[in-house]
Amino acid sequence: MNHDIMNLVIIGETRDGKIFRPSDWAERLCSLTSALKNDKRVKYSEFVRPGCTTTGAKVVIVDPRLHKIDRIAWKFVLDFAKEHNLKLESIPVPPVYGAVAETFRARHSTRRFLPTPVSRETIAELLELASRSPSGTNAQPWKVYALAGEAREALSAALLERFNQDAAETREYAYYPDTWEEPWLTRRRKMGFALYELVGIPKGDQPRMKEQSGRNLLFFDAPVGLIFTLDRHLAQGMFLDYGIFIGHLLIAAQARGLASCMQTAFADYPETIHRHLGISAREIIVGGLALGHPDPNAPENRIVSEREPVESFATFKGF
Ligand SMILES: Cc1cc2nc3c(=O)[nH]c(=O)nc-3n(C[C@H](O)[C@H](O)[C@H](O)COP(=O)(O)O)c2cc1C
Repeated sequence: MNHDIMNLVIIGETRDGKIFRPSDWAERLCSLTSALKNDKRVKYSEFVRPGCTTTGAKVVIVDPRLHKIDRIAWKFVLDFAKEHNLKLESIPVPPVYGAVAETFRARHSTRRFLPTPVSRETIAELLELASRSPSGTNAQPWKVYALAGEAREALSAALLERFNQDAAETREYAYYPDTWEEPWLTRRRKMGFALYELVGIPKGDQPRMKEQSGRNLLFFDAPVGLIFTLDRHLAQGMFLDYGIFIGHLLIAAQARGLASCMQTAFADYPETIHRHLGISAREIIVGGLALGHPDPNAPENRIVSEREPVESFATFKGF
């Protein structure tokens, strides 16, 4: 692998060892080279991004291609480092890393799709890639039912009928906790409110909230729907393998120019899915996945889900 592309890293520490202040200097510097997206949110340039070292020090990572595409921005950022006597480092980047990182950052859940079809070959290719996922003892516990066209529509119709009848089926495994505690409750609510606000559903409008929720069962109009199952004779730990498999599938789809939404909503209707698809009683319905081309005009596709900073969930020792 060719390792000769170097990223320039401006470290939030002066050459004489002082921590550089203010603490949000990296975000401020990056916002000066950022762009406003359609939804009025600031999007950092892929060439000047904030980051942090493993010890939590803020850094700004500058892609050397900036030198070619925007000399003024390049000079501005380097002058900033020079003026404030900040430490600079060059780090080698495997060429593929930038594209992989960009794919991770670009992936987000899509909740309205165009009818543009996706071929069986493409789906098979993505599943083959996802099956390169590691699994304990290489057990490969995943099993996938890929549906398109009439097969997808027929399953959606059967599920929607149950949903509209308020028919309750017994989930085959608990995904969400019975009661939500903090900090997860706030994160969950934020996501829900953001979705309802974007699609114009006022707070407390139960019929429209229900309608939106029912769109899950249509795979959000995606041309391809996947149903995942797991043999119930396997152990709970195999859900770890499953999560990695699905994660890889989402990234592979994104890299292939497709959008996706993982959906636990399907696991609410195991009886209908078992019956409709003729799935063996040995198999647990893990969930579903909508796959296809995103509708660029759909407001619900504009949700930007935030993430907690690394320091809030990772503990580093011995670095
Ligand atoms: C296992 C799993 C189940 C999910 N189930 C649903 C679902 O039923 N309906 C839905 O709209 N989104 C569902 N999501 C999507 C999450 O809401 C979404 O991943 C999260 O809010 C973060 O947003 P992002 O995917 O856009 O980064 C699910 C995600 C995962 C990983």
